[in-house]
Amino acid sequence: MKFAVAFIIVAFLLIGNAFSSVQQKEILHAIENGIDKLISGGTPPAFLFNAVKNISQIQDESEHDETICKSCQLVLNNVIAYRRSGAHKKSMMSYLKALCNVFSDYGSVACSGYVEIEIVRKTERDTVLFIIDNKRNLTPERVCSIHFQANKCQDPDADKWVIPLPPALNASKAIARETDQTTSIKVLHLTDIHYDPQYQPDSNAECDEPLCCQNGTASDPKNAAGYWGDYHVCDMPQHSVENLLAHIKEHHVKDIEYVYYTGDIISHKSWTTSKEENTKTIKYIYGRFADVFQNKTVYPILGNHEPHPTDFYSSDGVSQDHVTTQWIFNLSATEWSRWLPDDTSATILKGGYYTVLVRPGFRIVALNSNVCFTSNLWLAYEDRDPHQQLTWLVEVLHKAEQLNERVHILSHIPPGEILCHKQWSNQFRKIINRFANTISAQFNGHTHIDEFRVFYSPDKPDRVINVAFNGASFTTFVGFNPNFRIYQVNSSDAMVANFDQFIYNLTRANEKKTAPEWYKLYSFKEAYGLPDLKLDRFGDLLQKMSNSLDLMWQYYRFLVRDSDVKIKEGCDTKCLKQLLCYITAVETNESVNC
Ligand SMILES: *[C@@H]1O[C@H](CO)[C@@H](O)[C@H](O)[C@H]1NC(C)=O
Ligand SMILES: *[C@@H]1O[C@H](CO)[C@@H](O)[C@H](O)[C@H]1NC(C)=O
Ligand SMILES: *[C@@H]1O[C@H](CO)[C@@H](O)[C@H](O)[C@H]1NC(C)=O
Ligand SMILES: *[C@@H]1O[C@H](CO)[C@@H](O)[C@H](O)[C@H]1NC(C)=O
Ligand SMILES: *[C@@H]1O[C@H](CO)[C@@H](O)[C@H](O)[C@H]1NC(C)=O
Ligand SMILES: *[C@@H]1O[C@H](CO)[C@@H](O)[C@H](O)[C@H]1NC(C)=O
Ligand SMILES: *[C@@H]1O[C@H](CO)[C@@H](O)[C@H](O)[C@H]1NC(C)=O
Ligand SMILES: *[C@@H]1O[C@H](CO)[C@@H](O)[C@H](O)[C@H]1NC(C)=O
Ligand SMILES: [Zn+2]
Ligand SMILES: [Zn+2]
Repeated sequence: MKFAVAFIIVAFLLIGNAFSSVQQKEILHAIENGIDKLISGGTPPAFLFNAVKNISQIQDESEHDETICKSCQLVLNNVIAYRRSGAHKKSMMSYLKALCNVFSDYGSVACSGYVEIEIVRKTERDTVLFIIDNKRNLTPERVCSIHFQANKCQDPDADKWVIPLPPALNASKAIARETDQTTSIKVLHLTDIHYDPQYQPDSNAECDEPLCCQNGTASDPKNAAGYWGDYHVCDMPQHSVENLLAHIKEHHVKDIEYVYYTGDIISHKSWTTSKEENTKTIKYIYGRFADVFQNKTVYPILGNHEPHPTDFYSSDGVSQDHVTTQWIFNLSATEWSRWLPDDTSATILKGGYYTVLVRPGFRIVALNSNVCFTSNLWLAYEDRDPHQQLTWLVEVLHKAEQLNERVHILSHIPPGEILCHKQWSNQFRKIINRFANTISAQFNGHTHIDEFRVFYSPDKPDRVINVAFNGASFTTFVGFNPNFRIYQVNSSDAMVANFDQFIYNLTRANEKKTAPEWYKLYSFKEAYGLPDLKLDRFGDLLQKMSNSLDLMWQYYRFLVRDSDVKIKEGCDTKCLKQLLCYITAVETNESVNC
């Protein structure tokens, strides 16, 4: 549930009531004529806005997708050609701002902010220009196939890179882990706090920008920002974050063994981020974790919101001061060193990922999967296994397999997420398939919904081989109740045995203004009537869900954490079926087909 930035032209997402199919040719012709007029800051002609609006009204899905791909290629071709014909930074800025206003629904304030962050800052050239200037074989097909992969945009020259996998272990040689221990431990999973230092209770919660609740007065009192948070497009105030931590400290910290934090600390005000502000917020949050969790280890990973510019993780070998995002890896290595052993720092500095042997036989692998996020502009520069992370992952898992260790994988972006680069997603899935016996569970964030994803065996389509649990979010962005979660993990095989989901009712909290009343919304095993959480149970459960709209409605209720606005909004049969489809969509191309 993030706010896509990307190549300025990202959001053709103008939602309109479809009435009749319009001619693709007419639209493309209008776009071709119109974008030329934007060069040197020309005002966008009305027919250009109409053409873009008309795209969303194409009824036929493949024609619709094709029109998006072709429009994207037209625009990109123009942007690259204009720059390479010698356009200066200033002309490029006004051109890109105009394109942003035409092709996105961000509004002019956000468009200006994004273009300034991505293009100017203090120094010479910034990310967009750097990539156009330094990536010699940059093609519109490549860029559009990444940003609009969900619309099936193709690049005939796509780099179908492959991570080599060791041969599968001879099944008869796989050793079962010793089962002398039958105890379980508790693990706290926190994710997507999205702390907004500028949140103002009673400010305007319904503004024209992509993040509200910061200033202004609501014209209707119903739209005044709530004290503890808001169901509108808003993140979380400091006192709410402090309440969360105080609650956990008082009621849970003594029971838990350690903590997973699966990314996204920074607010969604992505058009005005800065290295300095992000650093301050990140240090504040980790500092508070250290105070509150005392001697319990936190295993943190990066979200797509931590870097500046948002979503950007610069490619290996790009060291130019004005575009590199190396600072976020350096900051993470320093901040995380209070919890992690020294030998994690090399990979954190290289790519924001690491592994820790927690105890003999149990290992955590913490990924920076944000590099696969299609809003990470650096994918246009280099999309081949960024920071050699997946190559490293295979090495780590192979060694773990030989030592008969069990592994938890932490990854901000869930497997199959529709905006994860398809080649990365495809390779990641193959790695999970290959090492499913070693990986006991996966833990994710990012989508802000309480969901899980189930991997089936490629050879035996009825056999479940892995499960990824999403911790949902503390932020309400957009329309959810805040939550945290506590797993019961089997100490012997590191499988998740159960989990409890804790939330508060934001409507009630804001009515009363006294401290929110946290309560357990559900325990997984009990809520779904399962005797245990062995992998096969997930297969049975999915079978049951596909036959029961009631069970699917419960899944939806939990997914939105019983939020009043989301319950009222509802989810019809088609919507519930789509949610069910996502559960088994563990590769991008499968989610696209849901
Ligand atoms: C967009 O749709 C409107 C209304 O159907 C039509 O009048 C106009 O010609 C279309 N413009 C383009 C460029 O497709
Ligand atoms: C696997 O191990 C069994 C028993 O040791 C052996 O018969 C079989 O040939 C092995 N298969 C492979 C592919 O190595
Ligand atoms: C308050 O919000 C308005 C738009 O909602 C914006 O133009 C203005 O700059 C903001 N003021 C401050 C002080 O942030
Ligand atoms: C953490 O602190 C508690 C209470 O001070 C103590 O009992 C426990 O042994 C400590 N654990 C570790 C791993 O240091
Ligand atoms: C990051 O840290 C490395 C070594 O620790 C240092 O050489 C480099 O200058 C730092 N880079 C930034 C951008 O802070
Ligand atoms: C933990 O796993 C072991 C081995 O798979 C199993 O025998 C035991 O029953 C499990 N314990 C719990 C509490 O699920
Ligand atoms: C949340 O609180 C509001 C106000 O007290 C109440 O009307 C609503 O039913 C509650 N929602 C749930 C799911 O309990
Ligand atoms: C997704 O892509 C993989 C690899 O390219 C392919 O094997 C699989 O059939 C595709 N799945 C769908 C649903 O298109
Ligand atoms: Zn998030
Ligand atoms: Zn995210």
